[in-house]
This record gives sequence, C-alpha cells and structure tokens, in this order.
Amino acid sequence: MSSGGTEPLFPLELPDASDAGPREIAPGAIHVPGWLSLEQQRWIAARFGEWTRGPVPLRAAVLPGGHPMSVRTVCLGWHWQPYRYTREAFDVNGERVLDFPEWMLRLGRKALFEAYGDPVEAADFAPDTALVNFYDGAAKMGMHQDKDEKSRAPVVSLSIGDSCIFRFGNTHTRTKPYTDVELSSGDLFVFGGASRFAYHGITKVLPGTSPKGCGLPGGRINITMRVTGMS
Ligand code: SIN
Ligand code: FE2
Repeated sequence: MSSGGTEPLFPLELPDASDAGPREIAPGAIHVPGWLSLEQQRWIAARFGEWTRGPVPLRAAVLPGGHPMSVRTVCLGWHWQPYRYTREAFDVNGERVLDFPEWMLRLGRKALFEAYGDPVEAADFAPDTALVNFYDGAAKMGMHQDKDEKSRAPVVSLSIGDSCIFRFGNTHTRTKPYTDVELSSGDLFVFGGASRFAYHGITKVLPGTSPKGCGLPGGRINITMRVTGMS
C-alpha cells in the first residue's frame, strides 16, 4: 500500500468496514457507510475543536423569521448565513473565516471519486467552502435545498459522532417522496447531478450512538463541502 508519502491519514484505499460501499439513494445521491476510519474521524474531530476557537466562533445562525437554528455552525473558506456567502462573518463578529484547508480539498476529491467513480470529475472538483455543523442531542434541521451556491457541483457530506436520521427527498417539494437514511459516524454522503437541489433535512439525532474512538463522545459533527462559484 502506498499513499504517495504525503497524506497517511487519507489513503486512497477504502477502510475495511464490512458494510462499506456506495449505495444510490436517488439518482446522483450516494451514501457510503463507514468511509472514514476511526483514526480519520478522530483527527477531523480534533480539527473541529481548533476551528471553533475562532476567529469566528461556533454560532447558531438566525433565520429571517428571527429564530436561531438549533444547529450551530462554523464555516471555512466562505462564511454562510441565511442565505448568502461572504468572506467575513458580518452576522457574528465581522472576522474573516479560516481558509478552506488543502487536506479537505484532497479529501473532497477522494469522496467524489468514491461516490461516482469518475476520475476526471473528481480531479476537477474544487470545493471552496465547508459548513461545519454541530448537533446536540436535540438539534434538527428542517427540509431545505442547498441553493446559495452559484455552482451546480455536488455537495460532499461527512458525519462524525452520534448517528442521525437524514431525510433525503426530491427536488420539487419538502414532502414525500423521500428516503430516511441513518447517517453514522464516518459516513460519506454525496449529492449532485439530478439530486443536487433535492430537499433534505435532519429529523433527529440518536444520542448515545457515537462510537468509541471517533473523537466526539456526544453530539454530531457534519461537514458539507461545497463549491460557491464565487471569487
Ligand atoms: C445540511 O443539510 O447542510 C447538513 C446535513 C447534515 O447535517 O447531514
Ligand atoms: Fe443542506
């Protein structure tokens, strides 16, 4: 096995989780259970701890109706607030967000290759923002589309910590038809193509399901890498 000597934590080989392997949930929407090893999860969870130290802290975004989201978010590359991207977090403390890390770009490309198997599409994938969400046991996320990006490039999602129920729907309505997928620590989910603008949300977190050794004893981290299409 060779990882080119540059990134031992993210080798190209699949982890040997027995249930690993892509599953198509809808056209262009692929779930890969157990994609990240526990070691990788732990390493990313440690980075999350660093990101929350600022310059922009973890915060609950306030929706236009005035209600804060139950999920708390820290962003990399570009700062997201409902419903736009800026470099500075005007709705928090005005600071510029941390850069989008190089290792995450490489990981995003590996994720895309894992999901779609197209090396050219994977090599061209250039995510420039990550929304990093933290869910406590009571947090949820209502059905929504990710449509603040000017690009139609896929969204790559990674989960660490407690499992959750991820409701993945259709592009027309917030309601049925949808599929409820249990996303567990280490899972990858990619949605692009015909599913890029599908409604999706988190109906519940399943407290106490975080695996030992994932680096997050309680709660759930979700990272979505996206291409803003902005410069
Ligand atoms: C999101 O929809 O942006 C986050 C999804 C998740 O937490 O898995
Ligand atoms: Fe989303």
